[in-house]
Amino acid sequence: MNLIVFGAPGAGKGTQSAYLIETYRIPAIATGDMLRAQRRAGTALGDQVKGYMDRGELVPDSLMVDITKDRLQQSDARDGFILDGFPRTVAQAEALDAMLDQLRRRIDAVIYLRVSRQVLIDRLSHRYSCRTCDAVYNFRPDQARALPRCTVDGGELYQRPDDHPEIVARRIDVFLKHTAPLIDYYTAQHKLENIDGQMSVAEVRADITRRLAGIRKGAGSR
Ligand code: AP5
Ligand code: MG
Repeated sequence: MNLIVFGAPGAGKGTQSAYLIETYRIPAIATGDMLRAQRRAGTALGDQVKGYMDRGELVPDSLMVDITKDRLQQSDARDGFILDGFPRTVAQAEALDAMLDQLRRRIDAVIYLRVSRQVLIDRLSHRYSCRTCDAVYNFRPDQARALPRCTVDGGELYQRPDDHPEIVARRIDVFLKHTAPLIDYYTAQHKLENIDGQMSVAEVRADITRRLAGIRKGAGSR
C-alpha cells in the first residue's frame, strides 16, 4: 500500500498513521517529524526550516520535494509507505506523481481526515508531544501541571511552539489556502477517501481499515 494521510493541523494524521504502520507493516514518512528531527540534531537544514515552522508557514516546495524523494528511495519504503504531511501544495503533489512515475509506483489512496476548525483548535490546545520522539499525548490544564515522561522513550513532554493558539490559527489558514486544493486534485484522480475525522480515534481507525480493505479487494480482483 502506498498511502497519503491528509488533513489540517490536528486532524489526526500522526495518530492514524501509527495504526497504519502496525496494520500494513510499512513506514510512515512524516515530514513534520523529519524536520523536527533535523532541528534537534542542529543541522543546517534544521536551521533553515526553523523560522517557517515556528511562524506556521510552509517550508519551500523545493526543499520538501528533495527530502521526500530521498526518503522514498530508502529500502524500508520499497514495499509501501504512508505519507503524513506531504504533499501540502499542488506543486508538491505534481512532483510526487513525477517521482513515483520514475519509480514505477503510484499512490493507492489518499485518506482525508475532515475536521472542523473549532475541533482542530481544541485538540491542539491539549496536545503535548515528546521532545525526543514526537509521540503525542493529551492533557487537560489541571493534569498538565505535573506532566509524566514519554512512555515510549522517557523523553520530556512539551507543547510544540507551533501549537500556540495564534500559530494554530495561521496553520489552519495556510492549510485552507495552499493545501485544501489537493482535495480536488486527488478527487480528480479518484483516490480521495473522505473520512469524518471527528469520530473517536477508534471509529476513524475502523473506517480507514474498512475502506482500505475495499481498495485492496478491488485491486486483487482486477
Ligand atoms: P506537521 O508536524 O506535519 O504538522 P501538521 O500538519 O500541522 O499536523 P499536526 O502534526 O499538528 O497534526 P496531526 O494531523 O498529525 O494530528 P495528531 O495525530 O497529532 O508539520 C509541522 C510544520 O512543518 C508545518 O507547519 C510546516 O512548517 C512544516 N512542514 C511539514 N511538512 C511540510 C511540507 N510537506 N511542506 C511544507 N512545509 C512542511 O492529533 C492532534 C491531537 O488530536 C492529538 O492530541 C491527538 O491525540 C488528538 N486526536 C487525534 N485524533 C483524534 C480523534 N479522532 N478524536 C479526538 N482527539 C484526537
Ligand atoms: Mg502530526
